[in-house]
Amino acid sequence: MDREELHEEGRGSGMSRRGIILAGGAGTRLHPLTRAVSKQLLPVYDKPMIYYPLSTLLEAGIREILIITTPHEQVLFRRLLGSGEQWGVQLSYAKQAHPGGLAEALLIAEPFLEGHPSALILGDNIFYGDPLNSLLESASRRARGASIFGYYVSDPTAYGVAEFSADGRVIGLEEKPSTPRSNYAVTGLYFYDERASKLAATLKPSKRGELEITDLNRLYLERDELHLERLGRGIAWLDTGRPDHLLQAAAFIQTLQERQGLRVACPEEIAFRKGWIDRQQLRELAGSLRNTSYGDYLHALSERGDELVV
Ligand code: TTP
Repeated sequence: MDREELHEEGRGSGMSRRGIILAGGAGTRLHPLTRAVSKQLLPVYDKPMIYYPLSTLLEAGIREILIITTPHEQVLFRRLLGSGEQWGVQLSYAKQAHPGGLAEALLIAEPFLEGHPSALILGDNIFYGDPLNSLLESASRRARGASIFGYYVSDPTAYGVAEFSADGRVIGLEEKPSTPRSNYAVTGLYFYDERASKLAATLKPSKRGELEITDLNRLYLERDELHLERLGRGIAWLDTGRPDHLLQAAAFIQTLQERQGLRVACPEEIAFRKGWIDRQQLRELAGSLRNTSYGDYLHALSERGDELVV
């Protein structure tokens, strides 16, 4: 599928939303694991970490995606994911010279976005559960402003944290507060309208020298154009930036997959169910993973389709 055809699909609802996966960073909390290899290429049970945020964007119906990596690791991501054609999507790549903060993604992505609205997801964030997809689709349809997702956690001090008014509206955002005003952490998935790159260009680096995504979100909040969707307790949000969290995420995925016999974050399956690739293409993808349980799964899917699975 070429860029023109992808554009055609988005036209009915205005400009199609483009995705950004931020998969650079230093990964210092995972050293020595990440001294030689990107965090986002480490395994989370049976697949590389980046498959999870990539699948979240695909589930939201986003088919043009920019992957931002460190300069030296881009070659590895290209080897893993290629052009995206095999899944009926279009993957592009860009480099972040230094870990200059999450909001820098919008500056790096500006030429790729070409004035389209965006969805930015962090390469180490895993989202799972129902009704995540419908939430994402409804946030994606919102043309104006920014949508962020709040998640109740026991210790929000490591995250951006939302403050709410008595009637539940978000009235403040704080980055890594020592005394948080709520338990709602802002997750690593952000939907922006076409103004995000221009607004990000007005940000100044924080005390730790980064362009903070919380500052960008605050610009939308000040304009009364920030929507916060609360992810309910039926949804799992995991980040995998520490060894204990990485292991917990792997155990979580293994438990789900073994119980259901369904794979979490399988781009081939998502592409097939969405009709972006046909049965024959799925069969070929299964063939390229012969003698693995992942390949067996794709093969079985290509044989029967499982129309009953939601
Ligand atoms: P962090 O976990 O905040 O940072 P990190 O991955 O560099 O790890 P550490 O704190 O252990 O050194 O980053 C969250 C996600 O965003 C992660 O997927 C990496 C990515 N990231 C970038 O790609 N560029 C950046 O400038 C930053 C700060 C993060």
